[in-house]
Amino acid sequence: MINLSIKTERLTLRPYAPADAPRLRELIGAWAVARMLARIPFPYPNGLAEEWIATHDQERARGGNFPFAVTLHNRLIGGIGLHESPERGQITLGYWIGVSYWGFGYATEAARAILGFGFGWLGLAGIGSQHYVENEASGRVLAKLGFVETGRGLHPCLARNAEIPGVELELTRDSWTAKQV
Ligand SMILES: CC(C)(COP(=O)(O)OP(=O)(O)OC[C@H]1O[C@@H](n2cnc3c(N)ncnc32)[C@H](O)[C@@H]1OP(=O)(O)O)[C@@H](O)C(=O)NCCC(=O)NCCS
Repeated sequence: MINLSIKTERLTLRPYAPADAPRLRELIGAWAVARMLARIPFPYPNGLAEEWIATHDQERARGGNFPFAVTLHNRLIGGIGLHESPERGQITLGYWIGVSYWGFGYATEAARAILGFGFGWLGLAGIGSQHYVENEASGRVLAKLGFVETGRGLHPCLARNAEIPGVELELTRDSWTAKQV
């Protein structure tokens, strides 16, 4: 399970490799991406991608964080994962797609597969997520997947060094399963 790869219609979701680091830095380090994520510094420093990728085997083995590289024709185009959220007390879904790949349904396709992994393989009863209010594209992705709003609040953003109004959402396994039939 530790090195699980997931294939969707167009994408392969696989563990990050050390060789992904330069491209990860380039794509996630873009302002349009970093500004919508909670914990990505801007500018994105040299060495951070390598450091982060090096933690993954241990994190997966511990059972808390499940990061996947999103690849298209063997090229990294984004990232997605299920992560522990102590604030939320549940596992949450996070994702990003490199700017030039926006608008093709890749985030929704990758997220659908990861939800299958979370509800199926991990047996989760519910998965949380969140987006900044201003991030309508992400709100749309989560709505398409069946997430429903559970609350609103201020959410940290490292790139902007600010707290930004955000929406909290959840998808239960029951409503996910009902949507699959
Ligand atoms: C949010 C993000 C992941 C979407 O990736 P994507 O692959 O383009 O998403 P999809 O194509 O699967 O779906 C995007 C949906 O948002 C819609 N959309 C795009 N821009 C929009 C906007 N400005 N306002 C409203 N809806 C918008 C698209 O039309 C599409 O919906 P549709 O299928 O009903 O037409 C991508 O923009 C991104 O990485 N942004 C920066 C990081 C980020 O926001 N991550 C999520 C943090 S919560």
